[in-house]
Amino acid sequence: LHILVLMGGWANEREVSLMSGNGVADALESKGHKVTRLDMGRDVAARIAEAAPDVVFNALHGVPGEDGTVQGMLDLMGIPYTHAGLATSVVAIDKELTKQALVPHGVPMPGGRVVKSDDLYGGDPLPRPYVLKPVNEGSSVGVAIVTDESNYGNPIQRDAEGPWKQFASLLAEPYIRGRELTTAVLGDKALCVTELVPKSGFYDFQSKYTDGMTEHVCPAQIPEDIAALCCEYALRAHKLLGCRGVSRSDFRWDDERGADGLFLLETNTQPGMTPLSLVPEQARYCGISYPDLCETIVADALR
Ligand code: DAL
Ligand code: MG
Repeated sequence: LHILVLMGGWANEREVSLMSGNGVADALESKGHKVTRLDMGRDVAARIAEAAPDVVFNALHGVPGEDGTVQGMLDLMGIPYTHAGLATSVVAIDKELTKQALVPHGVPMPGGRVVKSDDLYGGDPLPRPYVLKPVNEGSSVGVAIVTDESNYGNPIQRDAEGPWKQFASLLAEPYIRGRELTTAVLGDKALCVTELVPKSGFYDFQSKYTDGMTEHVCPAQIPEDIAALCCEYALRAHKLLGCRGVSRSDFRWDDERGADGLFLLETNTQPGMTPLSLVPEQARYCGISYPDLCETIVADALR
Protein backbone atom coordinates (compact mmCIF):
# COMPACT_ATOMS: atom_id res chain seq x y z
CA LEU A 1 0.00 0.00 0.00
CA HIS A 2 1.00 3.63 -0.40
CA ILE A 3 0.38 5.13 3.04
CA LEU A 4 0.72 8.84 3.78
CA VAL A 5 1.52 9.43 7.44
CA LEU A 6 0.18 12.84 8.42
CA MET A 7 1.95 14.36 11.42
CA GLY A 8 3.21 17.54 13.06
CA GLY A 9 1.08 20.52 12.12
CA TRP A 10 0.75 23.52 14.41
CA ALA A 11 -1.09 22.09 17.41
CA ASN A 12 0.39 22.41 20.89
CA GLU A 13 1.09 18.67 20.63
CA ARG A 14 3.13 19.10 17.42
CA GLU A 15 6.30 17.49 18.83
CA VAL A 16 4.38 14.52 20.20
CA SER A 17 2.71 14.03 16.83
CA LEU A 18 6.07 14.05 15.05
CA MET A 19 7.25 11.27 17.40
CA SER A 20 4.06 9.28 16.83
CA GLY A 21 4.16 9.82 13.07
CA ASN A 22 7.79 8.89 12.58
CA GLY A 23 7.37 5.79 14.75
CA VAL A 24 4.36 4.69 12.72
CA ALA A 25 6.08 5.48 9.40
CA ASP A 26 9.16 3.42 10.33
CA ALA A 27 6.94 0.50 11.37
CA LEU A 28 4.86 0.58 8.19
CA GLU A 29 8.04 0.75 6.08
CA SER A 30 9.38 -2.29 7.92
CA LYS A 31 6.23 -4.08 6.75
CA GLY A 32 7.07 -3.28 3.12
CA HIS A 33 4.62 -0.43 2.52
CA LYS A 34 5.47 2.67 0.54
CA VAL A 35 5.31 5.52 3.05
CA THR A 36 5.11 9.27 2.50
CA ARG A 37 5.75 11.40 5.60
CA LEU A 38 3.91 14.71 5.63
CA ASP A 39 4.38 17.45 8.21
CA MET A 40 1.05 19.28 7.91
CA GLY A 41 1.01 22.90 6.74
CA ARG A 42 -1.80 25.07 5.40
CA ASP A 43 -1.23 23.51 1.97
CA VAL A 44 -2.07 20.03 3.29
CA ALA A 45 -4.91 19.33 0.84
CA ALA A 46 -2.77 20.10 -2.22
CA ARG A 47 0.14 18.05 -0.86
CA ILE A 48 -2.07 15.02 -0.21
CA ALA A 49 -3.71 15.31 -3.62
CA GLU A 50 -0.26 15.39 -5.22
CA ALA A 51 0.94 12.32 -3.31
CA ALA A 52 -2.31 10.45 -4.09
CA PRO A 53 -1.92 7.80 -1.36
CA ASP A 54 -4.19 4.75 -0.96
CA VAL A 55 -4.82 5.74 2.64
CA VAL A 56 -3.81 8.42 5.17
CA PHE A 57 -2.53 7.40 8.60
CA ASN A 58 -3.59 10.35 10.74
CA ALA A 59 -0.92 10.71 13.43
CA LEU A 60 -1.92 14.26 14.38
CA HIS A 61 -2.74 15.03 18.01
CA GLY A 62 -4.83 17.91 19.33
CA VAL A 63 -6.24 20.83 17.37
CA PRO A 64 -6.15 20.83 14.39
CA GLY A 65 -6.03 17.19 13.39
CA GLU A 66 -7.85 15.27 16.11
CA ASP A 67 -10.87 17.59 16.04
CA GLY A 68 -12.71 16.81 12.79
CA THR A 69 -11.09 19.44 10.56
CA VAL A 70 -8.67 17.10 8.80
CA GLN A 71 -11.29 14.34 8.81
CA GLY A 72 -13.79 16.56 6.97
CA MET A 73 -11.16 17.55 4.43
CA LEU A 74 -10.27 13.91 3.73
CA ASP A 75 -13.96 13.02 3.47
CA LEU A 76 -14.35 15.68 0.77
CA MET A 77 -11.24 14.43 -1.02
CA GLY A 78 -12.53 10.85 -0.92
CA ILE A 79 -9.35 9.49 0.67
CA PRO A 80 -9.69 6.83 3.37
CA TYR A 81 -8.02 7.63 6.71
CA THR A 82 -7.34 5.97 10.03
CA HIS A 83 -9.03 6.60 13.38
CA ALA A 84 -12.30 8.40 14.10
CA GLY A 85 -14.37 10.20 11.47
CA LEU A 86 -15.61 13.78 11.46
CA ALA A 87 -18.56 13.67 13.88
CA THR A 88 -16.81 11.46 16.44
CA SER A 89 -13.73 13.68 16.40
CA VAL A 90 -15.74 16.85 16.99
CA VAL A 91 -17.39 15.36 20.07
CA ALA A 92 -14.42 13.46 21.52
CA ILE A 93 -11.92 16.34 21.31
CA ASP A 94 -14.26 18.38 23.51
CA LYS A 95 -14.30 17.08 27.07
CA GLU A 96 -17.62 18.78 27.83
CA LEU A 97 -19.38 17.38 24.74
CA THR A 98 -17.92 13.97 25.61
CA LYS A 99 -19.65 14.14 29.00
CA GLN A 100 -22.96 14.95 27.36
CA ALA A 101 -22.53 11.93 25.09
CA LEU A 102 -21.39 9.40 27.70
CA VAL A 103 -22.78 10.23 31.14
CA PRO A 104 -26.46 9.61 30.22
CA HIS A 105 -25.37 6.14 29.07
CA GLY A 106 -23.90 5.14 32.39
CA VAL A 107 -20.26 6.09 31.96
CA PRO A 108 -19.26 7.94 35.14
CA MET A 109 -17.30 11.17 34.57
CA PRO A 110 -16.42 13.97 37.01
CA GLY A 111 -18.94 16.79 37.44
CA GLY A 112 -17.89 20.38 37.05
CA ARG A 113 -18.53 23.19 34.64
CA VAL A 114 -17.09 25.33 31.89
CA VAL A 115 -15.77 28.71 33.03
CA LYS A 116 -14.30 31.74 31.28
CA SER A 117 -10.68 32.17 32.31
CA ASP A 118 -11.37 35.82 33.19
CA ASP A 119 -14.00 34.73 35.73
CA LEU A 120 -11.43 32.66 37.65
CA TYR A 121 -10.09 35.77 39.34
CA GLY A 122 -13.39 36.56 41.05
CA GLY A 123 -13.52 33.37 43.12
CA ASP A 124 -13.23 29.62 42.84
CA PRO A 125 -15.71 27.96 40.43
CA LEU A 126 -15.68 24.82 42.63
CA PRO A 127 -14.53 23.95 46.14
CA ARG A 128 -10.78 23.29 46.23
CA PRO A 129 -9.07 21.07 45.24
CA TYR A 130 -10.16 21.21 41.62
CA VAL A 131 -8.66 20.82 38.15
CA LEU A 132 -8.69 23.45 35.42
CA LYS A 133 -8.18 22.21 31.89
CA PRO A 134 -8.75 23.46 28.36
CA VAL A 135 -11.77 21.65 26.90
CA ASN A 136 -9.91 20.49 23.80
CA GLU A 137 -6.21 19.94 24.43
CA GLY A 138 -4.24 16.74 24.91
CA SER A 139 -1.11 15.57 26.73
CA SER A 140 -2.12 17.67 29.79
CA VAL A 141 -1.34 20.91 27.92
CA GLY A 142 -2.75 23.78 30.00
CA VAL A 143 -3.88 21.64 32.96
CA ALA A 144 -3.64 23.10 36.47
CA ILE A 145 -4.52 21.56 39.83
CA VAL A 146 -5.74 24.29 42.16
CA THR A 147 -5.20 23.11 45.71
CA ASP A 148 -4.75 25.61 48.49
CA GLU A 149 -4.07 29.26 49.10
CA SER A 150 -0.40 28.87 48.25
CA ASN A 151 -0.78 27.90 44.61
CA TYR A 152 -2.06 30.72 42.40
CA GLY A 153 -3.53 32.55 45.45
CA ASN A 154 -7.04 32.50 46.83
CA PRO A 155 -8.86 33.84 44.93
CA ILE A 156 -6.62 33.11 41.95
CA GLN A 157 -4.42 36.14 41.39
CA ARG A 158 -4.55 37.86 38.04
CA ASP A 159 -0.74 37.89 37.84
CA ALA A 160 -0.34 34.23 38.87
CA GLU A 161 1.48 32.28 36.17
CA GLY A 162 -1.25 29.75 35.45
CA PRO A 163 -1.10 27.41 32.48
CA TRP A 164 -4.70 28.38 31.69
CA LYS A 165 -3.68 31.85 30.50
CA GLN A 166 -3.72 31.06 26.79
CA PHE A 167 -7.25 29.60 26.83
CA ALA A 168 -10.46 31.64 26.78
CA SER A 169 -12.61 28.99 28.43
CA LEU A 170 -11.78 26.08 30.65
CA LEU A 171 -13.34 23.07 32.23
CA ALA A 172 -13.31 23.07 36.04
CA GLU A 173 -13.66 19.60 37.57
CA PRO A 174 -13.36 18.33 41.14
CA TYR A 175 -9.89 16.86 41.71
CA ILE A 176 -10.14 13.11 42.17
CA ARG A 177 -7.51 11.85 44.59
CA GLY A 178 -6.06 8.40 44.03
CA ARG A 179 -4.75 6.68 40.97
CA GLU A 180 -4.31 7.26 37.23
CA LEU A 181 -5.45 4.43 34.92
CA THR A 182 -5.84 4.01 31.19
CA THR A 183 -7.36 1.43 28.84
CA ALA A 184 -7.02 1.12 25.07
CA VAL A 185 -9.64 -0.37 22.78
CA LEU A 186 -8.45 -1.99 19.55
CA GLY A 187 -11.17 -3.02 17.11
CA ASP A 188 -13.94 -4.20 19.40
CA LYS A 189 -11.81 -5.33 22.35
CA ALA A 190 -10.40 -3.55 25.38
CA LEU A 191 -6.71 -4.44 25.67
CA CYS A 192 -5.87 -4.10 29.38
CA VAL A 193 -5.41 -1.50 32.12
CA THR A 194 -2.17 0.40 32.76
CA GLU A 195 -1.53 2.38 35.94
CA LEU A 196 0.61 5.49 35.57
CA VAL A 197 2.76 6.35 38.56
CA PRO A 198 4.47 9.71 37.91
CA LYS A 199 7.51 10.40 40.12
CA SER A 200 6.36 14.03 40.52
CA GLY A 201 2.85 12.99 41.59
CA PHE A 202 1.23 14.80 38.62
CA TYR A 203 1.04 13.04 35.23
CA ASP A 204 1.68 16.25 33.30
CA PHE A 205 3.33 16.84 29.92
CA GLN A 206 6.86 16.41 31.27
CA SER A 207 5.97 13.21 33.11
CA LYS A 208 4.31 11.86 29.99
CA TYR A 209 7.23 12.31 27.60
CA THR A 210 10.41 12.17 29.69
CA ASP A 211 11.80 8.66 29.89
CA GLY A 212 11.96 7.49 33.50
CA MET A 213 9.64 10.13 34.96
CA THR A 214 6.60 7.85 35.09
CA GLU A 215 6.37 4.19 35.95
CA HIS A 216 3.89 2.28 33.73
CA VAL A 217 2.43 -0.70 35.57
CA CYS A 218 0.99 -2.92 32.83
CA PRO A 219 -1.22 -4.69 33.70
CA ALA A 220 -2.25 -2.49 36.63
CA GLN A 221 -2.14 -4.08 40.08
CA ILE A 222 -5.75 -3.26 40.94
CA PRO A 223 -8.76 -5.35 42.00
CA GLU A 224 -10.30 -7.42 39.21
CA ASP A 225 -13.66 -5.65 39.41
CA ILE A 226 -12.03 -2.23 38.88
CA ALA A 227 -10.03 -3.53 35.90
CA ALA A 228 -13.19 -5.04 34.43
CA LEU A 229 -15.03 -1.72 34.87
CA CYS A 230 -12.22 0.19 33.11
CA CYS A 231 -12.49 -2.20 30.17
CA GLU A 232 -16.28 -1.98 30.14
CA TYR A 233 -16.37 1.84 30.26
CA ALA A 234 -13.58 2.20 27.67
CA LEU A 235 -15.39 -0.13 25.28
CA ARG A 236 -18.74 1.58 25.90
CA ALA A 237 -17.19 5.01 25.26
CA HIS A 238 -15.48 3.73 22.09
CA LYS A 239 -18.81 2.45 20.76
CA LEU A 240 -21.02 5.36 21.87
CA LEU A 241 -18.66 7.92 20.38
CA GLY A 242 -18.23 5.86 17.22
CA CYS A 243 -14.44 5.49 17.36
CA ARG A 244 -12.62 3.49 14.68
CA GLY A 245 -9.50 1.38 14.83
CA VAL A 246 -8.10 2.37 18.19
CA SER A 247 -8.98 4.66 21.10
CA ARG A 248 -7.72 5.10 24.64
CA SER A 249 -9.80 6.12 27.63
CA ASP A 250 -8.18 7.73 30.66
CA PHE A 251 -9.46 7.32 34.22
CA ARG A 252 -8.97 8.52 37.78
CA TRP A 253 -9.73 6.01 40.51
CA ASP A 254 -10.25 7.04 44.12
CA ASP A 255 -9.22 3.74 45.69
CA GLU A 256 -10.85 4.66 49.02
CA ARG A 257 -14.27 4.60 47.34
CA GLY A 258 -14.14 1.25 45.50
CA ALA A 259 -16.10 0.98 42.25
CA ASP A 260 -17.93 4.27 43.00
CA GLY A 261 -14.59 6.08 42.84
CA LEU A 262 -13.85 5.29 39.18
CA PHE A 263 -14.29 8.16 36.69
CA LEU A 264 -13.55 8.32 32.98
CA LEU A 265 -11.80 11.62 32.20
CA GLU A 266 -11.80 11.45 28.42
CA THR A 267 -11.51 9.23 25.37
CA ASN A 268 -8.60 9.91 23.02
CA THR A 269 -9.51 9.15 19.41
CA GLN A 270 -5.89 9.47 18.23
CA PRO A 271 -3.84 8.23 21.15
CA GLY A 272 -0.08 8.67 21.21
CA MET A 273 2.07 6.19 19.29
CA THR A 274 5.50 7.33 20.53
CA PRO A 275 7.99 4.84 21.99
CA LEU A 276 6.79 5.82 25.51
CA SER A 277 3.13 5.65 24.58
CA LEU A 278 0.56 3.49 26.26
CA VAL A 279 -1.34 1.93 23.36
CA PRO A 280 1.76 0.24 21.84
CA GLU A 281 2.68 -1.00 25.33
CA GLN A 282 -0.75 -2.51 25.96
CA ALA A 283 -0.78 -4.05 22.48
CA ARG A 284 2.61 -5.66 23.16
CA TYR A 285 1.28 -7.08 26.44
CA CYS A 286 -1.57 -8.62 24.44
CA GLY A 287 0.88 -10.16 21.95
CA ILE A 288 0.52 -7.55 19.19
CA SER A 289 3.78 -6.03 17.94
CA TYR A 290 4.06 -2.32 17.14
CA PRO A 291 4.21 -2.87 13.34
CA ASP A 292 1.22 -5.23 13.53
CA LEU A 293 -0.68 -2.63 15.57
CA CYS A 294 0.00 0.03 12.92
CA GLU A 295 -1.12 -2.33 10.14
CA THR A 296 -4.30 -3.25 12.04
CA ILE A 297 -5.21 0.43 12.34
CA VAL A 298 -4.61 0.91 8.60
CA ALA A 299 -6.65 -2.18 7.73
CA ASP A 300 -9.54 -0.80 9.77
CA ALA A 301 -9.49 2.41 7.72
CA LEU A 302 -9.87 0.41 4.52
CA ARG A 303 -12.79 -1.74 5.66
N1 DAL B 1 -2.94 13.27 23.45
C1 DAL B 1 -1.93 12.25 23.55
C2 DAL B 1 -1.17 12.12 22.30
C3 DAL B 1 -2.52 10.95 23.96
O1 DAL B 1 -3.69 10.92 24.27
O2 DAL B 1 -1.82 9.96 23.95
MG1 MG C 1 -6.24 13.45 25.67
